[in-house]
Amino acid sequence: MNCQNCHLKAGTQSWAGSFGSVASLFPRMSDRRGSAETVNQRITDCFERSMNGIAPDSNSREMVAMKAYILWLGKDVEKGKKPKGTGLEILPFLERAADPQKGKLLYVSKCQSCHGTNGDGQPDSGAEYRYPPLWGQHSYNTAAGIFRLSKFAGFIKDNMPFGSNYANELLTTEQAWDIAAFVNSQPRPQKNFKQDWPIIQSKPVDLPYGPFSDSFPVLQHKYGPFQPIAQYKKSHPL
Ligand code: HEC
Ligand code: HEC
Repeated sequence: MNCQNCHLKAGTQSWAGSFGSVASLFPRMSDRRGSAETVNQRITDCFERSMNGIAPDSNSREMVAMKAYILWLGKDVEKGKKPKGTGLEILPFLERAADPQKGKLLYVSKCQSCHGTNGDGQPDSGAEYRYPPLWGQHSYNTAAGIFRLSKFAGFIKDNMPFGSNYANELLTTEQAWDIAAFVNSQPRPQKNFKQDWPIIQSKPVDLPYGPFSDSFPVLQHKYGPFQPIAQYKKSHPL
């Protein structure tokens, strides 16, 4: 996979993982890390998680170049500001659990033609993908942000099927959550960084692995309904 598979149009497309607020917000507190995170560390995270790979050294030409590009994109944004459309959209929670069975039917009709019956995508003639994989050994691993239902659903609602965008969406919020539930229940590389989320209460509601600071079942942390967990967290602040 490559960065643009998720950060569309080299990270310039609104609500498609746009990099527009990296320069203004980094270094930034990361709850996952439990401390401030630099741009280099954030890129490394995507290499190790979203691409299930190994990051180049922070002094390598590639790393220096990617960082320079991403910071240049946001160079005119005022420090501390997050322009609308950067990152991903945060969708409202469903009142019910997201449904992988419904998601499977939607996958077959709306996604399979490009991403494949086995979710393994379709390689191009070089070393990359014409259609990137959504599960299987070459996909993102279980420590990736997009393995969380909310991130996956937010990304596809605004960007998939390919050709749609935030101003011309082809999925409803409900469909996006159900497809996320289906895709993120398929097999993929397992990775568990023991040092993640050192403060357990700061874990997002939709992380399907413990330890948890509440007693909701693992399945509810995976598929929802998330509102009761969010409410519990609100009434038991850090
Ligand atoms: C499988 C999808 C995927 C791939 C591939 C991927 N990323 Fe990401 N990346 C994400 C997600 C999801 C986020 C979190 C976005 C959010 O929460 O708004 C993210 C966040 C980031 C951020 C922080 C953006 C911000 O505004 O906070 C940077 C920088 C970044 N990625 C760089 C890269 C680079 C460079 C590559 C290629 C080496 C890459 N990513 C590959 C999914 C991906
Ligand atoms: C017409 C072909 C097409 C269809 C249909 C399509 N996609 Fe994609 N999808 C793509 C392409 C192409 C990319 C990579 C974009 C790029 O590299 O610029 C992509 C990227 C993705 C990504 C991020 C990269 C990854 O592999 O993890 C996800 C997630 C995704 N698609 C999910 C879906 C879902 C879910 C559906 C059905 C609702 C869908 N797509 C339908 C072509 C398609």
